[in-house]
Amino acid sequence: MRRLRTAVLISGRGSNMEALVAAAQAPDFPAEIALVLSNRPEAPGLAHAKSRGVATAAVDHKIFAGREQFERSMQVVLEAHGIEFICFGGFMRLLTPWFIGKWAGRMLNIHPALLPAFRGLHTHERALAEGVKIHGCTAHFVMLEMDEGPIVAQAAVPVLDGDDEATLHERIKVAERELVVDTVGRMVRYGWSVQGRRVRIGASG
Ligand code: GRF
Repeated sequence: MRRLRTAVLISGRGSNMEALVAAAQAPDFPAEIALVLSNRPEAPGLAHAKSRGVATAAVDHKIFAGREQFERSMQVVLEAHGIEFICFGGFMRLLTPWFIGKWAGRMLNIHPALLPAFRGLHTHERALAEGVKIHGCTAHFVMLEMDEGPIVAQAAVPVLDGDDEATLHERIKVAERELVVDTVGRMVRYGWSVQGRRVRIGASG
């Protein structure tokens, strides 16, 4: 089986990346984590990936004059590693149309809320303040507008009466790790198609 060469882009701890790396250690997982790339050389996730034998790279956004120069440098690294698919694991940079144009439809993000609710930051705090009873996480394609791309998959968790931000965060992190592994696995195994905003896994023939 040829496995899809996948890069995980991180900025920090990379717990979703860790879950993908662990899943991809099984020989029948259809994606190979061929690179973990960070915009922060000190990101703790890089050391973890290295310790699991995964190739790593850091492209420090701070040394570039502009976003596109930074992205062009990332692109060189991605191409050097033969990357075919990107998954974000807490990658905290806004992207330009240039980079999105290169990867649109092949670049996945996990957002910690059930989109289109709670786009942006501090999603758990806002969900608690709104009193929602169901919260969750979303796997979606990365597009130009933040948290705007077509939804690929979602997982819901209950919001319990006694929850605070920390307990809700932990419940969502568990759901995120399962969602990212399941979604990447199914997408790569069965293919996908996008019609308007509707994504179907297994419909690309
Ligand atoms: C994840 O919880 C995800 O929802 C968001 O960024 C967070 C990154 O966490 N996009 P980690 O670095 O994977 O631990």
